[in-house]
Amino acid sequence: MASMNDKVAVVVGGAKGIGLAIARRLAQEGATVILTGRRADEVAAAAAAIGSSARGIQADAASQADLERVVAEAGRLHGRIDALVLNAGLSEPATIAEETGEHFDRHFAVNVRGALFGIQAALPVLRDGASVVLVGSIADVMGVTPFSTYGATKAALRSYARSWAAELAPRAIRVNVVAPGPTDTDMMAAVSDEMRQTLIAPIPLGRMARVDEVASAAVFLLGDDASFITGAELCVDGGMRQV
Ligand SMILES: NC(=O)c1ccc[n+]([C@@H]2O[C@H](COP(=O)([O-])OP(=O)(O)OC[C@H]3O[C@@H](n4cnc5c(N)ncnc54)[C@H](OP(=O)(O)O)[C@@H]3O)[C@@H](O)[C@H]2O)c1
Repeated sequence: MASMNDKVAVVVGGAKGIGLAIARRLAQEGATVILTGRRADEVAAAAAAIGSSARGIQADAASQADLERVVAEAGRLHGRIDALVLNAGLSEPATIAEETGEHFDRHFAVNVRGALFGIQAALPVLRDGASVVLVGSIADVMGVTPFSTYGATKAALRSYARSWAAELAPRAIRVNVVAPGPTDTDMMAAVSDEMRQTLIAPIPLGRMARVDEVASAAVFLLGDDASFITGAELCVDGGMRQV
């Protein structure tokens, strides 16, 4: 039996890359999926590519009002959310000397504030026993220059996952982090060949992750097979942070 049959899933930042792979996999596993992204054309194309079990809603993952609108729509359509994925994130380089208030605020606004107000907005509609996955990064415990602000956002997310797991445990809502290592997405397409080789060099399995490999981990944590796992981080990194 498909692992997500009869479940309603919302993927914030689900129109491209890892988020789209998670949305697609959720639908393949039987879920009804709502996915979001800022560009209406990308959102519509992503939902259409997945098929009739997916619906796209144009929304900015950094906007509290947009997040509330998405949850209200999920509630109106389905009455509940069983699986929530907070995937949106950005990663742009800056050394300490190059850092600006704007760069810092933009990273924290999407990667941290967006997740906080995403889960807050969802609370009234999240079913007791629901599962939440935050897409973090193995950069949460590494010193990755010049991506220190990105790493700091992911460390904040990892911390939040522990506290949110504790806070929501009385409702049997599980909160976990999927932490990818370097993964082949648009985000990676923008990096130079030299940077790509530098990123692959410390990965024991000798390559980047595929988005479907990250999606498998997320869908595992969202489903009932992970029913006693909360506050945890599942790394999908080819051993990069493990060996
Ligand atoms: N690729 C990797 O190597 C890697 C490794 C570790 C962790 N991750 C994490 O995986 C997640 C997905 O990344 P990806 O690799 O799939 O990258 P991607 O294809 O570039 O997707 C980025 C996602 O974040 C959203 N986003 C980006 N900038 C935003 C902004 N300013 N405001 C609102 N939303 C914004 C995008 O939404 P729109 O559709 O609205 O643009 C999209 O859903 C991120 O949290 C990232 O940190 C990626």
